[in-house]
Order: sequence, then C-alpha cells, then structure tokens
Amino acid sequence: MAFPTETVYGLGANALDEVAVHKIFKAKGRPADNPLIVHCYNSLQIASLVKPYSSRVQALMDRFWPGPLSLILPKTSRVPAVVSGGLDTVAVRVPNHPLALQLLQLATIPVAAPSANVSGKPSPTRAEHVWRDLAGKIAAVLDGGSTGWGLESTVIDCTCWPHRLLRPGGVTLEQLQAVTEVAVDPGVYSDIFEKPRSPGMKYQHYAPDARVELVVGDHIQSTVKQLIQEKSKIYKRIGVMAVSEHVHAYLNVSVLDMGSQHDMRAIASSIYHLLRTADELELEYVIVEGLPETEMGMAIMNRLRKAAAYRIIIS
Ligand code: TXA
Ligand code: MG
Repeated sequence: MAFPTETVYGLGANALDEVAVHKIFKAKGRPADNPLIVHCYNSLQIASLVKPYSSRVQALMDRFWPGPLSLILPKTSRVPAVVSGGLDTVAVRVPNHPLALQLLQLATIPVAAPSANVSGKPSPTRAEHVWRDLAGKIAAVLDGGSTGWGLESTVIDCTCWPHRLLRPGGVTLEQLQAVTEVAVDPGVYSDIFEKPRSPGMKYQHYAPDARVELVVGDHIQSTVKQLIQEKSKIYKRIGVMAVSEHVHAYLNVSVLDMGSQHDMRAIASSIYHLLRTADELELEYVIVEGLPETEMGMAIMNRLRKAAAYRIIIS
C-alpha cells in the first residue's frame, strides 16, 4: 500500500516479510540491488534492526526524527537481504507525517518503503501521481494530499567517519554539520565516480520523457532565451522551468513556474510535479533554470542534474 510521508509518497510493505518486499520491487520495476529505506514509528523500534550505534548517531536521531533524514547503519539478521539489496547495512528513518506515523503505530512492524513511483520516474508528491504510475499494480493509496517537502529524505552513511552525505534532502548539510561531522559524497554532484556508495546513485532518476537541459551560471536568462531560439528549429514543443520572477521573460514556449527564487522550499515542493507536467504536455525539450546550491538548493540541484541526465550548460 502507498502512503504519504512528509517528503514523498512511499510504497510500503512489512520489512520483515521477504515475499511482501519482493512485491514492491515488482510493482516499481526496481532493480533488486537498490536497497529500501525502513520506516519506523520511533528509534526504539529501530533497535532490533541495526547493530548498536554511537552517541553521534543518537544525537542525529534526537535532533532530526521524526523528519526527513535516513541513516545507514550496519543491519542485524532480522532485516532480510531483499530489503538491503544484499548489503550488510540498512537505511532507517522515522517519518514526520501524521498519516505515516498512525499507519506505523497501527502496523507495529517496520515498513520498507521506496518512493511510490515507477522506477526512473519523478517521485510522487500527490496521491494522483502514485495512481498514475501504479494503478492495477498496488492495493491502495492512502490519500494525504500534497506532501510537504516534495523531495526525498536526506540519506547519510553512518558506517564511516566522518559520516557521508549520499543524497541531499529536507535536512540540509548545514543543519547536519551543526550536529556532527559530515562529508559530501562526490556522487551528489556528478555521476562520474568509480563505485557508488549508494546503489541508487547509479540509476537514472527523475527523468521525464523530454530531453532536459539545465542552465547554470551568471547569465541564465539570456542563455535560456538563446536556447529557445536555437532549439525551436528542432523541437515543436519546448518548455522552460523558471523561477516566478522570470516566467514573463520567455515567449512562445510552455513556461512552468517553479516558485519564487526567495522561497526554496516552495521550489522543492513543485519540481517533481512540474517534471510530470512536462510529460503530460508532451514536451520534447525542457530547459531548466539552475539555482544556488546552498541549503535546500543543494537537494533541488541534485535532482535537477539527474532529471537532465547531467546535460548542464554553463552560462
Ligand atoms: O523520503 C524518502 O526517503 C522516501 C520516503 C517514502 O520515505 N523514500 C525514498 O526511498 O526515497 P527510495 O527507495 O526511493 O530511495 C532510497 C535511497 C536509494 O538511493 C537507495 O539506493 C539508498 O536510499 N539506500 C537505501 N539503503 C541503502 C544502504 N543500505 N546503503 C546505501 N544506500 C542505501
Ligand atoms: Mg525513489
């Protein structure tokens, strides 16, 4: 069953039941080596799933749970290999959403849940997105309206020191570093690395059907305008994902408003919906305005680089 969390909708199954967990992989078309995050009601429930952890890890749990932070820790044998994609670690988190918490409390079991999208599509931020991807393949969606953050949780690897940020999200690097030492994995910025520490990093994510290109640098508006002119010779249906302050600058294209450049949380919560909208409008080519990489901008840009399959134009 799919359910809302404060980040995106998840597709949940009993994390201790191998057969149930297999069904998640099947419904999503997810590669078997890409491990799942286990959701718990509180940190006590996590105790039997992971080996004893340090006071530094405890400090992260105390500060950020319930909330959008997943911690990778060495797992116990109670967690089936299918959940961890064969790794000896498991990602755990306590979500901060009333429906998710109620569900976890009633279920009394840990719930393995990846984002409730077909693999390779943007994560679902509304129940309709889940249904569009998975109708006929899953039992139900618990409809909690739009999710708050709109981007998946921050993932950090706590099996190494300093801890390592594998996926930026709602809990920012700045917030983490105020509590403990955290280094950024190079995979956050680029797909050129030898051995991904998180199996999920090697798969293309968040891809709409259109060819997406991301424009960064000091002259974004003029470069986007130039691209529109050039590419209209090749593509009929062009879109631009722009901040609200720039939406009137672009003519003869579908302009998708990401939200004000002064409200990065609003932008975070709109980008997956806009990438899906690009598909509904059958856009062939989408230009996305880049954003500053600080705080929530780090997570937003990480997802936009992936949506663009790392086609980045420096202006
Ligand atoms: O916000 C979220 O985290 C959402 C909601 C539903 O909780 N879930 C989510 O799950 O985004 P998923 O499966 O779409 O992304 C989990 C990411 C993947 O990139 C996966 O490779 C990584 O976490 N991951 C999970 N367990 C791991 C492990 N043991 N070691 C390294 N990476 C792991
Ligand atoms: Mg996902």
